Amino acid sequence: MFAKRIESIRPFIVMEVLEKALEMEHNGIDIIHMEIGEPDFETPKRIVEGCFTDLGQGKTHYTHSLGMLELREALSKYKEKTRSTRFDPKTQFMITGGTSPAFFNVFSVLLNPGDEVIIADPGYPCYQNFARFFGAKPIYLPIMEEDKFDLDVGVLKKLISPKTKAIILNSPSNPTGQIISRESLDEISMIVKENDFWIISDEIYAELTYNGEIAPSLSEKDYKSCHNRLVVLDGFSKFWAMTGWRLGYVIAPPNLIGAMTPVQQNFSICAPSISQSAAIHALTCTEETKNMLDVYKDRRDYVVNFLNKLKGINCLVPNGAFYAFANIKELGISSISFCMTLLENARVAACPGASFGPNGEGYVRFSYTTGKNNIRKGMERLESFLENIN
Ligand SMILES: Cc1ncc(COP(=O)(O)O)c(C=O)c1O
Repeated sequence: MFAKRIESIRPFIVMEVLEKALEMEHNGIDIIHMEIGEPDFETPKRIVEGCFTDLGQGKTHYTHSLGMLELREALSKYKEKTRSTRFDPKTQFMITGGTSPAFFNVFSVLLNPGDEVIIADPGYPCYQNFARFFGAKPIYLPIMEEDKFDLDVGVLKKLISPKTKAIILNSPSNPTGQIISRESLDEISMIVKENDFWIISDEIYAELTYNGEIAPSLSEKDYKSCHNRLVVLDGFSKFWAMTGWRLGYVIAPPNLIGAMTPVQQNFSICAPSISQSAAIHALTCTEETKNMLDVYKDRRDYVVNFLNKLKGINCLVPNGAFYAFANIKELGISSISFCMTLLENARVAACPGASFGPNGEGYVRFSYTTGKNNIRKGMERLESFLENIN
């Protein structure tokens, strides 16, 4: 009855944990939510207020299908500041209704059935579904804890075949919170020169780092030689706490933006005008974003210290994003059983590592996107849960 294509989309395991947690909550059970990767902060006031003013001034219409030129210009300046590269606002940007629809646009013009897309394992679960939806095959690149979850370019090279159409990079990574090193980027930039595939760089957590510096990216000017093969996907959901506004963007060579334009015009027309206005205000909110970052850092330190004191668990210190990816292998249970029993017995919701790919088995992702009191309670519940199962 339904199109065959839909069979390629697998459910999000984290949603199963969330749905069970919500059902328990509905039955009066209090749950500590550490499963979903969504900022708990409200969108900064200045963005909301600026947006109200714009609404009052009638910015409620369709915009250019590539997005308001004012926003593209503001983003171009922002990237010039953060990446010291100028991308042309008129031909190299496309504003989309979130990073997720940006993937739809990019893959719909890049992928043919049978193409291969190399993705990190563990990595953001949607990537493999995006690839399958367009008939392409996801190829898993194992990312190992012994490499501090950086990617091993030697292993990556072995996965490249004549069918490789793209490699997706995500730094800092969901779920590991680790940043791809400059050394790895140097090597990848060399590989791109020798091959004929695209680098898709998902930079949605790029500013969400704890060392005071934006995560390195192939969009920097030192890597200019691979910019004709580089697609940057970015968005406002995480760093600016704007998940519900649905706003993202693509930076790509003009020919790729040109090819995607009819897709955007037909399927979306344009990104929501009011969210585009909000994004212009967001780019000026440096103080607000710094405050949120300080809070995440404090939570990160607390969670990781706590996890590392527990018997049977260890966790590398994440350098970015808002996830602690804890190794539970010593406990000898699968990540799904661990998360389900943790939820049922200790009322803490966390995300099984297996949902991020086969190599994520043996890990559990705790999101520190809830207040410190909740986090404290969650960690204490986890501690008593482990005492009971050990
Ligand atoms: C790595 C990564 N990319 C993209 C997204 C989706 O972002 P958006 O809200 O812009 O669609 C997420 C959301 O969790 C993510 O973790």
